[in-house]
Amino acid sequence: MKNIILIGFMGVGKGSVAREVIKISEYLSVDTDDLIESMENRTIKKIFEEEGEPYFRALEKKVAEWLQTSVTNTLISTGGGFYRQENLKEIGTVVFLDSPFDKIIKRIKNHPNAAKKLKKRPLLSNLKKAKELYNERLPQYAAVADIIIDVTDKSALECAKELLLKVKQDA
Ligand code: S3P
Repeated sequence: MKNIILIGFMGVGKGSVAREVIKISEYLSVDTDDLIESMENRTIKKIFEEEGEPYFRALEKKVAEWLQTSVTNTLISTGGGFYRQENLKEIGTVVFLDSPFDKIIKRIKNHPNAAKKLKKRPLLSNLKKAKELYNERLPQYAAVADIIIDVTDKSALECAKELLLKVKQDA
């Protein structure tokens, strides 16, 4: 099985969809932010605070290179900025989880762990700036994607089923 790479904005539900996909398929799953946190033995928030964003982006590049050479049969959930990696298409089929900015923020705010979810994401600390980032990235996410899934008002399980169907059709 070719890898699947989930891309999309912070809080759109990449992790939740990945968890459903692995329940109903043979895919294994990894998350690029989790890989970076274990490589560095500190949180993304701390990495941003202590080293700055360029350092974090260099770690993403390192992870992208490792994924391309070493990982198969896997659903790769990524941080919201990972889509910029030059070798993205070499890693696997790129699936963009799409939803309007306001719906994404609503989704985060409605979550029982909302405060934690907001706090751990440095680039969501200013919602005006986050909206600008969203607007800038939206066409780029769509341009790099092999498959686009509109996740708005759908459960993670519904999205996971749609994803598996579309990946099969795309193969
Ligand atoms: C980022 C998204 C975050 C994390 C980091 C930067 C981004 O991941 O990688 O804070 O640039 O959009 P999530 O998309 O899982 O929140």
